[in-house]
Amino acid sequence: MKGLQVQCLYFLVLNSLFYVSSLEEDLSVHTLDNLMDNFKDLFQNNDATPHAYTKFSFRKPLMPEDDICYIIPGNPESLKECTFNSTSKTFLVIHGWTVSGLFESWVAKLVSALYEREQDANVIVVDWLYTAQNHYPVAAQNTKMVGQEIAHFIDWLEEATNIPLENLHLIGYSLGAHVAGFAGSHTSNKVGRITGLDPAGPDFEGEHAHHRLSPDDAHFVDVLHTFTQGSLGFSIGIQQPVGHVDIYPNGGSFQPGCNLQSTLETISKYGLFAITDIPRCSHERSIHLFIDSLVNEQEASMAYRCGSNDMFDRGMCLSCRKNHCNTVGYNIRKIRMTRSIKMYTKTKDSMPFRVYHYQLKILFSSKVDRSEMEPSLTVSLIGTKGEVEDLKLTLKEKITTNKTHSFLLVAEKDIGDLLMVKFKWQESTNWSASSMLKMVSSWWSGDSADSEVEVHKIHIRVGETQKKMVFCIKGPHALGLQQEVTFVKCKMNGKKQT
Ligand SMILES: *[C@@H]1O[C@H](CO)[C@@H](O)[C@H](O)[C@H]1NC(C)=O
Ligand SMILES: *[C@@H]1O[C@H](CO)[C@@H](O)[C@H](O)[C@H]1NC(C)=O
Ligand SMILES: *[C@@H]1O[C@H](CO)[C@@H](O)[C@H](O)[C@H]1NC(C)=O
Repeated sequence: MKGLQVQCLYFLVLNSLFYVSSLEEDLSVHTLDNLMDNFKDLFQNNDATPHAYTKFSFRKPLMPEDDICYIIPGNPESLKECTFNSTSKTFLVIHGWTVSGLFESWVAKLVSALYEREQDANVIVVDWLYTAQNHYPVAAQNTKMVGQEIAHFIDWLEEATNIPLENLHLIGYSLGAHVAGFAGSHTSNKVGRITGLDPAGPDFEGEHAHHRLSPDDAHFVDVLHTFTQGSLGFSIGIQQPVGHVDIYPNGGSFQPGCNLQSTLETISKYGLFAITDIPRCSHERSIHLFIDSLVNEQEASMAYRCGSNDMFDRGMCLSCRKNHCNTVGYNIRKIRMTRSIKMYTKTKDSMPFRVYHYQLKILFSSKVDRSEMEPSLTVSLIGTKGEVEDLKLTLKEKITTNKTHSFLLVAEKDIGDLLMVKFKWQESTNWSASSMLKMVSSWWSGDSADSEVEVHKIHIRVGETQKKMVFCIKGPHALGLQQEVTFVKCKMNGKKQT
């Protein structure tokens, strides 16, 4: 409340200044000086400059959740007191909108993870809680002002410490991502990197690049989109790409392990900004994916460039050629193109999130022309280190004979090199009228055996290893698929596959 009173007083003083100056000659300069003195007193007594609500809390590795030392712009002593190390990397962690006015629990977790990865780093938590604790549209409006304050801080920091701005990395969540964008666009020199963690959508979606996070705001801008599930005409996370590289885990709309049903119910009941734990789950997943990339470096998730999420879900985008794949999170390769690069990945529902992506290309053949089939397809993969069993293939379209279909399969663990594939085809129990008619007619014509769908080969590409293999049906004959069939690596002209 103190801040608000100060803001009101500031407004009053400004108004009276305007009034005074409009009286011009009638007033002496002396009167104006007096007024200015009062004005200064007012804020010195309140120990605050008119708009500086943003604080810079230097966190320590052993006390990641405590505000024990603030770096005060214009006060070089505060850098010494906080043991700022000007030769190492500096992170600014920027939170988002808040109802409680308190730091959420992820802040300390991210601080810890940053120190775990970069022991000598300076991790500074930007505290704009006071400004962020407003109605959402007001908080959204304030992001520019807060960004400018951070830009002043960065300019001062650069001058006071001579740190190369390439070593400065801003990490902003939700509204904080746009705050980071405004900060980056107002500094005298460009900052090294901005990571946007599910940047807020409402009031920013579709806006001009100057009014939201954009690739112009840093040498490299990377973004994770985790909650773009549309509702009431807009989504909590921004859907459009806003960085150099934009990654959409699990399509970016919603995350595994989060409860979609109760999220939508909560939103319809209490509105889009009833950010209780449930709707926050997918939004906050962006942070935990980033934390994962810091602490589980050896299990980094891979993302793949793709024209659409639908194509990705068919397994059509697992190539790493020409920078088409990248590491999710902290270790991302800094690829800058004129247009944003959209990338996709699947994840598990908890940390470590990394999965293994497989593309299966299957030609379904049959003597009798059949289409509109919706069988249930189940695959087991057996590798040198383990196996994953009974994974369902998602049908993105109905199966048609004599056509090659492509599927994405996700294994939640590392099974090593693939040795064997088991494949099962089960007709859906719900017969459509047309397929029923076809079956009856084929029985009638006496060629029911010929109507069976056959699979002879399965082409597999593994995203994580970039290996390509062909699996052939075991045994001399191509069997029908009513029971589980086993495929092993094909013998190709006596040559062994790699
Ligand atoms: C500052 O960081 C560098 C690495 O960036 C490290 O070698 C050095 O020991 C640190 N200095 C202090 C005083 O911790
Ligand atoms: C599918 O292809 C196979 C092999 O080329 C052929 O024998 C069969 O007649 C084709 N089936 C249809 C329905 O065209
Ligand atoms: C079959 O139809 C019923 C009712 O329409 C539906 O509940 C069920 O999920 C369907 N099963 C399959 C395998 O499609």
